[in-house]
Formats: sequence, structure tokens, C-alpha cells
Amino acid sequence: MKVKRTQVGIIGAGPAGLTLARLLFESGISTVILEAKDREYVENRIRAGVLEKGSVELLGRAKSDARLQSNAQIHKGIEISLNGDRCRVNLEKLSGGKHVTVYGQTEITIDLIEVHTKLGGEIIFEASNVIPRDFETKTPVIQYESNGDLTELQCDFIAGCDGFHGISRSSIPPSKLKFFERVYPYSWLGILAEAPPPSKELIYASHERGFALYSMRPPTRSRLYLQCENNTTLDHWPDEVIWNELRCRLGVKDAHLIQEGEIIEKGVTPMRSFVTEPMQYGNLFLAGDAAHIVPPTGAKGLNLALSDIFYLSNAFTSFYDTGSTKELKSYSKTALSRIWKTERFSWWMTSMLHKASETDNFEDRIRLAELDYLLSSEAALSSLAENYTGLPY
Ligand code: APR
Ligand code: PHB
Repeated sequence: MKVKRTQVGIIGAGPAGLTLARLLFESGISTVILEAKDREYVENRIRAGVLEKGSVELLGRAKSDARLQSNAQIHKGIEISLNGDRCRVNLEKLSGGKHVTVYGQTEITIDLIEVHTKLGGEIIFEASNVIPRDFETKTPVIQYESNGDLTELQCDFIAGCDGFHGISRSSIPPSKLKFFERVYPYSWLGILAEAPPPSKELIYASHERGFALYSMRPPTRSRLYLQCENNTTLDHWPDEVIWNELRCRLGVKDAHLIQEGEIIEKGVTPMRSFVTEPMQYGNLFLAGDAAHIVPPTGAKGLNLALSDIFYLSNAFTSFYDTGSTKELKSYSKTALSRIWKTERFSWWMTSMLHKASETDNFEDRIRLAELDYLLSSEAALSSLAENYTGLPY
């Protein structure tokens, strides 16, 4: 068995693990990232792309925002469409000057990997049988295999940034954790298309046939979603059916705004809310999707992962600068306070915009009343804008 040593061992090279590694590198703290997949796979995953101000600032601190600064789009508003009637929500005015930045998560991952490897940061791709061990002691270890070698990575701390299906959360004795979960009775069919989006801003459309979202990957592509049944398969969704449904849910008046183009990606995403408490056990710290999941309405998954990393990187830096464990001890509590508020917002947007099940007509009327109230109340719209553009850290 080979032996390696680092200060913080990081499991997972998604946005959470990569941003943590970059921030710690900038503070002179050594890390090694162990990633199960190969680099090409990691750089091609397609996910939401709406960034809060805090996320953009953190990527700046991580010195990984050069392409973002030149290619991203600033969005000062979103649109909400109700059965074909569109209404613009002026995020900037309602939130006191804030906006969101549209830039794909795929690009963020590419940028973080490029900068980190160029500056000499270590990412071990295709690490298999990754096992975090001894994290209840002061000498935690991550065991892994790479190129046929079995290695023990000795570290001071382990950061579990390995997503919802990772090994970190499941390595903690279940009796030490509490889980909170909601699975929604619908999914999203998502496409990426070589076609201009119907509007310069995102359109969240609630329609009697179901929810649709018209988003984009600047500069030229559309990212479009349709509410669908949980047990749907891609065979139910030939291209023609998708385009017709996208036109229909945007409404008769605006259907012509949909421009068809080659569909280069098609997939179904289930919708889930999930939180683990606490996000720490001994010297193993969970961050990002490893600890919590939000449904994609509102695009908070990446932003939440990055706010965890804000708190966790500060806590590690404070420990190595001063020897204080105060911030490490309060990491879980501090992060969870923001996570639960964002879970609430994502649940609220999801429940309000999606058609509820046929059998629950009461719930469907309530959510339509909620939407009607939202669109008629400046107070309610301000709350939407405050949450959508991002709560403070
Ligand atoms: N060993 C090593 N790496 C692993 C393991 C394992 N056992 N299990 C998973 N991984 C890797 C995955 O291959 C992936 O690259 O951990 C990484 C986790 O990355 P993400 O799933 O992107 O999670 P995170 O970094 O927390 O980012 C959250 O991703 O799912 C979206 O909506 C979410 O946008 C949010 C963001
Ligand atoms: C996306 O562009 O993929 C996206 C945008 C906004 C959301 C969800 C997904 O709320």
C-alpha cells in the first residue's frame, strides 16, 4: 500500500469539491481531490446555470471566473407565464439592485479544473474504491485505488463533496444522522438544443398541461424543460412531440417564439428535496449534493453547494491560520440555516408552478391562488426576487 499526505482530502470533483480545492490552494492549504469518473465525463455533465452574486464572487476568489466574466449573461428579470399570459418580474428593482448571472455549470467545472491543474493542484480522476476511514479520530484516511495501486491518503480533515450518490454520507453511522426528504410526483424532461431561446430572459411557465421552463446556454443554445410523469421514458418523447408541447405550454400567442433546432441532449430529471443533519461527523464534513438536494426549479443546487463551500473554506482557513476549531464546529449549523431557507424557496417555487396530481384538485386550486397572489402583490414578488437572486451568506 502506498501512503500520501495532504491537509484536506476532498472526495468528488464536482463544483463543490473543485471550488473548495481552489480556495484552499489560494490560502496555502494542501488538498488532493479524488474523483471516481474521468475528466471528460466530469466536464460534460449538463446542469442548471443560474448563479447568485455570492456564487460569482466565490468563483472570483477561486480565480476561476475569467471566462465567466467575458461570456456570462446578466439577467435583471425573469418571466412568469400563466396559461400563456406572460408577466415580467423585475428582479433588479424588486431586490434593491441585484441580478443573476447565466453561465452553465458545465463551463464552471471546465474552468475550475483548468485553473486548478494549471496552478499545480492535484486531482486524481478515475479513483476507484474510495473509502473514507478513521474520521472520528484526529488522523483520518481516505483509501483509494488508482492505476492499479492501492493508496492511503492521510489527512487532517476529509471533505465529502461526492454528490447525492457518493460514499461520504453513507460512511457515517446512520444513527448519527437525520434525513428529511420529499419526492415529488413529477419529473422534468430536459433538452439542450442548437436553437435560440424564445426570450432573452428565462420563462417559468405554468400551464394546465404542466410546467415548462425556457432557459438558455449562452451564446447560442436553448435549455428547455417540460414537466412530465415520473415513470416516463425518452421513447414517449420524440423530438416533434417535445417541440409541440413546448409551443403549447408557452401559449397560442407566443408559440411562434419557439425556434426548433437540433436536440443535442435529452434526459429526464426526478425532483427531490433532501437534507442531512448534521453535515459533519468527527473530521468528515459534507458539502453540496452529498448533504442536500433541491428540486431544480429556481436553480439553487449549485448555488447552495457554493455557499456551503464559502462557510467550509473559511472554517478550514481559520483553523490553519489560528488553530481555532470554532468555525469548523459551527459549520453544519451555519450552513443548514441558509440551506433550509433555500429548501423552502425551491419547494415553494416547485409546488406553485407544477400541475398537481389529478386526484388532488384542492392542492391545484391552492397553488393557482398562490400564483395569482404572487403576480398581483409587490410584497410577494419582492420575496421571490430576494430569494431568486440569493439570500446573503
Ligand atoms: N468517489 C469519488 N468521487 C465520487 C464518488 C466516490 N465514491 N461518488 C461520486 N463522486 C463524484 C462524482 O462523480 C461527481 O463528480 O463526486 C462528484 C460530485 O459532484 P456533483 O454531483 O456535481 O455535486 P456537487 O459538487 O455537490 O455540486 C452540486 O451539482 O447536482 C448538481 O444541482 C446540483 O448544481 C448542483 C451541483
Ligand atoms: C437551466 O438553465 O438549466 C435552469 C435554469 C433555471 C432553473 C433550472 C434550470 O430554475
